[in-house]
Amino acid sequence: MAQIIQIQDIAQYEGQEVTLRGWVYDRTGKGKLEFIKLRDGSGIAQCVVFKNDVSEDNFELARKLTQESSVVITGVVRKDDRAPGYPGGYEVGVKSVSLIQMAHDYPITPKEHGVEFLMDNRHLWLRSSRQWAILRIRATIIRSMRNWLDDHGYLLVDTPIITPSAGEDTTSLFEIDYHGEPAYLAQTGQLYNEANMMAFGKVYCFGPTFRAEKSKTRRHLAEFWMLEPEIAFCSLEELMAIEEQMVIYTVSQVLDKHRGELAILERDLTALEKVKAPFARISYDEAIQRLQALQAALPDDDEQKELLKISWGEDFGSPHETALTQMFETPVFVYHYPTAVKAFYMQPVEGRPEVCRSVDLLAPEGYGEIIGGSERIYDHDLLAQRIADHKLPPENYTWYMDLRKFGSVPHAGFGLGIERTVAWLCGLPHIRETIPYARMLNRKTP
Ligand code: 4AD
Ligand code: MG
Repeated sequence: MAQIIQIQDIAQYEGQEVTLRGWVYDRTGKGKLEFIKLRDGSGIAQCVVFKNDVSEDNFELARKLTQESSVVITGVVRKDDRAPGYPGGYEVGVKSVSLIQMAHDYPITPKEHGVEFLMDNRHLWLRSSRQWAILRIRATIIRSMRNWLDDHGYLLVDTPIITPSAGEDTTSLFEIDYHGEPAYLAQTGQLYNEANMMAFGKVYCFGPTFRAEKSKTRRHLAEFWMLEPEIAFCSLEELMAIEEQMVIYTVSQVLDKHRGELAILERDLTALEKVKAPFARISYDEAIQRLQALQAALPDDDEQKELLKISWGEDFGSPHETALTQMFETPVFVYHYPTAVKAFYMQPVEGRPEVCRSVDLLAPEGYGEIIGGSERIYDHDLLAQRIADHKLPPENYTWYMDLRKFGSVPHAGFGLGIERTVAWLCGLPHIRETIPYARMLNRKTP
């Protein structure tokens, strides 16, 4: 019996007879030869069926195989530098083929399809090599970040998804009926993270988060995954250093492990190789000055001129973030945003309360905000005031206020959006392909 192997390990089996189990990605034939590109989830291997090497029935079967039919193939692994596939460089000289199920009229063919059609067929589109590459890189991004945190003394402490109150902006809450009472899907794990941080020092949560904002942009999902560390006794400057190290580690892991996938995506590697310390650090004030200078220098007929208009106090829109990131080769930290555009819990800057101890990390090449973070208000009365100012119901925050009564300490944390990070590292123009099943303003299927 030949050994059953995964295609990703094929190089270890040169000269040996192996069994591959998978799906027909593509098939072409001429005369006595059939070339089956077999996909098994771990890779793609070219399997060559030579009429004289297999039974007559087997050759007939091979000739009839359709795209995405499921099969078991046994054959001998041969080294051949020209052999296509992932990892490629090896092919299988087939001895037998057996059919599990013949697929009929698989809807996604090598020809071009519209994005909406592909999104409607997302359950099948996942099998295509681009999607395969993206989601493998996504898994490495998540694993690398979690490994980095686990190795640096952070404890994973899970936070709830069903919550009684808002963690961020109240306009983006998804309301659910919780046994007759209103409840909301979590926008963030942060508030619970702060309680957990007081118990464990350095913590993180990782899970799905939900935003009901009516944004129809290439950066917004209604359901996305966020990684949120929270650290006791941490300053904004220390927070930036943590983000920088974690992001650099993650990029290096993706570059190490996924050259093949990045090649499928035609990702420009030189841009990723420039992701090194130190990242640029500029204040919101400086960012505004730079944007205003850029905007003023544009000719009147430039369509960006109107889009890039901005005054001090306004939050950045996508065009501003894009322009800012194009000024630097590394990711850029923008810190000390106006208090008025940020969430209620952010610590004011001493002597200048109109700005707060917040920092966003903007990814280069126009990708924009991937991380939002801040120092948190730890003074009880100031936080109570901010909750009142934001017209949040104080009775929902009594437990959160307790954290400021029983050994309150300065602390800081951040949230990193996994999908925006995947879009950046994979070089994707739209966030919809960065998650297996995107939930957007006008899409909740499949
Ligand atoms: O800046 P945000 O809203 O920050 C928070 O929720 C904080 N409570 C996090 C914390 O400090 N623990 O979101 C953080 C990140 C953003 O930088 C972005 O990457 C991602 O989450 N994000 C989204 N990603 C996709 N679709 C959306 N609608 C997103 N909203 C935020
Ligand atoms: Mg933000």
